[in-house]
Amino acid sequence: MNDKTKSDFQIIQSHANIVEIVKSYVPLESHGKNYFGVCPFHDDHSPSMSVSPDKQIYKCFVCGATGNVFNFVENFLGVSFLEAVKIVADKVGIGFTVQENKEDLKNKKYYDIMNLATLFYENNLRTNLGAEAREYLHKRGITDEIIKDFSIGLSLKENKALYTLMQNKKIKKEDLDALGLIAEGETGVYDLFRNRIIFPLKSPTGKPNGFSGRIYNSDSNSKYINTKETIIFKKRENLYNYHLAAPVARQEKQIIICEGFMDAIRIYASGIKNVVATMGTALAKEQIALLKKLNVKVIIVMDNDNAGELATISLGESLLKENIDTGIVRLTGKKDPDEYILTYGIEAFKDNIKNPMSYLEFMNITLRKDKNLKNPTELTTFINEMIACLSSATDELLIETSINKLVEEFHLDKELLKSRLLSKELLTNIKVEETSPKENTTKTAKTNNKFTRAFKTMLYYMMNDTDCMRLFLHYQLNLPKCKYRLVSNNLIYYFELKREIDFADYLTFSEEYPEVNEVVREIIRDVHISEFTPEDAEAVLLVIKDILDKQKIEELKKEMSKELDVNRKKKLFESIIEIKKGCVKNDRD
Ligand code: UTP
Ligand code: MN
Repeated sequence: MNDKTKSDFQIIQSHANIVEIVKSYVPLESHGKNYFGVCPFHDDHSPSMSVSPDKQIYKCFVCGATGNVFNFVENFLGVSFLEAVKIVADKVGIGFTVQENKEDLKNKKYYDIMNLATLFYENNLRTNLGAEAREYLHKRGITDEIIKDFSIGLSLKENKALYTLMQNKKIKKEDLDALGLIAEGETGVYDLFRNRIIFPLKSPTGKPNGFSGRIYNSDSNSKYINTKETIIFKKRENLYNYHLAAPVARQEKQIIICEGFMDAIRIYASGIKNVVATMGTALAKEQIALLKKLNVKVIIVMDNDNAGELATISLGESLLKENIDTGIVRLTGKKDPDEYILTYGIEAFKDNIKNPMSYLEFMNITLRKDKNLKNPTELTTFINEMIACLSSATDELLIETSINKLVEEFHLDKELLKSRLLSKELLTNIKVEETSPKENTTKTAKTNNKFTRAFKTMLYYMMNDTDCMRLFLHYQLNLPKCKYRLVSNNLIYYFELKREIDFADYLTFSEEYPEVNEVVREIIRDVHISEFTPEDAEAVLLVIKDILDKQKIEELKKEMSKELDVNRKKKLFESIIEIKKGCVKNDRD
């Protein structure tokens, strides 16, 4: 970077107020001399990012993301540093020209050609020759505004309209060939896209790198034809509309994924801009990585047919394995989101999106669909398939509640289901078996794991909500000595001082206790809950109490077996009965 650009950065930075710029992407609230907001760089549900107007930096208390105004824009929008500088410069009204990076420079020639082709197709659609295609689009509810937003165009009936234009511009045939725009047959060179409505496909940073062409007034075997793999178009690295959806998704903490790009266009044009499309194929790991990078909940809304159901199962499983928060929506009555919205309206669609199923709920419904569960063999198959699904899940509480539901519905033995799950887990995770030879060790480890999860969840509730804090105190649990107890003690101390819970304020407070602060960070990083009620907190408290009670009973039993004094033995026995009574009462509640 030369001196001139260096001073450009400083000038731009001195004109930009980081609070205002960050606020244009993420809501911030002032708190003391700093501002706080939900961090867009990890799966955050509480305001853990602070923005300092004095230091002109942002800093996430949990994931550690930090930097100046340029870094924020760079990371938030997933653009290069220089692009971020340009965006900030635009916002504060200072001119700044971006220098392109090496990769872009290398491929610049190709992107320029794709841009030119896009303009050509767009223009065709506006001419007389485009009247019929325009009519087709308008009939489908694609307005001129949507046409413009998505750069929709038209390839002409002529054999080589695009090729001729490119020849006039002195563009080489090899380059057009490399980009999949032309083909060569016995009659010579011809355009690949002819007499089709053209939908430009764009890279994750928004550059046109391919096309999809749809028939509109003819019969053809293929409804859509798409650009082949080229030097700049790698199907497995693209998701339709990703470049427009990503910044909105980060803001909304959610992204919708559908099958067809016509669906994505309909959803986007109806005002929900955080939407991408798979373009009808199973997702490659690069595409899953694009979703994961956003750190937001993914809502799957595939077509309402068998293929859509299979796509949902496969995508849902991939996301579950990647530990991505996933919601599933199955529409009814119409073939796909496009037709659904056109028939029932966007509000009806939004209602569906607001109430997604979890992957496990969806599998529960799907797996039982073609089975007669009164038949023992079919019921066994169903239970085994559900257990297989559960073994991919990582959330202990979710597993517990799912098992409880199965136990209740089919009057099964809970321990049996749990041991099945355990053996499934051991089968899929042979390494675990190798390191823990005794079944017993695994069981203890599982209980400990469950206790830790429940305790962490409870602490999360407590640091977010005054009622949950009160509920915790009401239970008067005798917690074992561990790093989490440090946090509960610290929270209780904070609560005694302040008489109410304020998340952002508690975070600052806990910073004075480094060993507590470390565990607080761990909890916020690990617990992913966006909404909860005091009932949820009570359910978790009961899980904790149950485990503690069982441990206590075991201890007392051991003591009792060693005790020789009859009276003391009787006392111990009574204590056990007392605890057991408490358990029974809770079970009934
Ligand atoms: P659909 O057949 O569901 O298309 O294929 P659609 O989205 O409903 O399109 P319209 O409403 O008929 O115009 C879903 C996706 O599969 C790809 C496309 O990307 C499409 O968006 N596809 C489909 C093809 O690539 N080629 C085809 O022939 C059909
Ligand atoms: Mn459709």
